[in-house]
Amino acid sequence: MRNKFGVLVELAAAVRQFFAASPEEIPVERDEDDEPVNQNDLVEVEEALRRLLNQSDLWERADEASLFLPHDADASMVAEGLDQAFRQSASVRDDDNSDNLFGETLSTDPMQDIRSPHSLRAACVVYYVCAQGKKGLRRKHAFVEHDSNAAELESNARVILFGDWASGIPNARILADYIWQEYVQPVIGKKQQVHLIHLGDTYYAGLKHEYPKRFSKHWPVRTTEKPPNIFSWTIPGNHDVYAGPHGFYRMLKEDRRFDAQAKCSHFLIENKYWQIFGLDTSSTPVDWNGSIGVLHKKQLEWVIRRRDVNKKCILLTHHQPFCVCENVDPHLSDQLRPIREQHPVTAWFWGHEHLCARFEPHMNIEFPVLLGHAGFPGRPKKRIHDTPKVKFEWTEHVGPYVSFGFARLDFSNDTIDTRLMNLVNREKHRFMIY
Ligand SMILES: [Fe+2]
Repeated sequence: MRNKFGVLVELAAAVRQFFAASPEEIPVERDEDDEPVNQNDLVEVEEALRRLLNQSDLWERADEASLFLPHDADASMVAEGLDQAFRQSASVRDDDNSDNLFGETLSTDPMQDIRSPHSLRAACVVYYVCAQGKKGLRRKHAFVEHDSNAAELESNARVILFGDWASGIPNARILADYIWQEYVQPVIGKKQQVHLIHLGDTYYAGLKHEYPKRFSKHWPVRTTEKPPNIFSWTIPGNHDVYAGPHGFYRMLKEDRRFDAQAKCSHFLIENKYWQIFGLDTSSTPVDWNGSIGVLHKKQLEWVIRRRDVNKKCILLTHHQPFCVCENVDPHLSDQLRPIREQHPVTAWFWGHEHLCARFEPHMNIEFPVLLGHAGFPGRPKKRIHDTPKVKFEWTEHVGPYVSFGFARLDFSNDTIDTRLMNLVNREKHRFMIY
């Protein structure tokens, strides 16, 4: 993968020439509101590529080209650009080999020979995609404040939670198929209320074109309109915001299934027993590799204002309140200290790490659950902290990778029967939240 970045840098001058002569010949997924790419944009992309090429920590984790998932805004745009370039050059073919979790492989590598016209064409696509992403970042979508009422949670509602799902790879699609077949389709038009909640990350960079192909097409509600008893929700992860996050907001605006979310990146679902806060920890990044979760000031004020301590509280975020495998910045947990210290948080579910575990109570959170294993293969990590203790750890594997799963929460007044399910809907762990 690093070689490809090197090829892209070497082709920079040729790309600029090609753009100057015939920009309309570049085979990219164009959008009607795309601004034209100019020479300054291309220079900016080249500078970003040079930085990435020399950034050693970016390559430490990129041990396998097929698992290249950079924690960096520019590198994530390059990943999407390469994906488009490979498809445009008809280099991607299906691969049924069960060891290949991506279900596809490169039949020819268009960037292998730097002198070939295929390499130049592929490089032009990558530069175009990155230039559009960087324009989006410069004119970042404004944060949208929550000004509507809470959504009503029925006392016997079912909530399906899954994190880091929108990769579009075969097992992520299988997981969504099971959710649709088992929990959504059979109850459409019936009384049972179902909420489907994604804990964020649409790969690679949350560009506008990525939502239709990795998120919307596979979302486990296979209807165009919103069924009255089925509710869809999603909060942004770091990958959703790398290019803006214009793609995220456009999806919320246009997809009727997400109507309840009212075009806002955070939400509240509530009844007389519970408050479920879905919080956006990504839209106000203090770094562009996405490792620090931060709440926008207006959102923090909103959650503190709306918190009712007479009710139990569930927090849903993309970023972690704590991590037992690496040191995480305490920014998010510090911001939410008033919520945590005022009254225990009953449960907190989060993603970002592509693993699953349930922990002992910690930081005044009674049921802390990591749930980031629905869509991108992750390898188990070594623990570096002794506390908190793990009550349950997901150990099911596909080869060296943690297999995918989701959580099913069945509410019954003030208790929740909670099950962690694998991607073919088999129960792996069950506990009561109360
Ligand atoms: Fe993430």
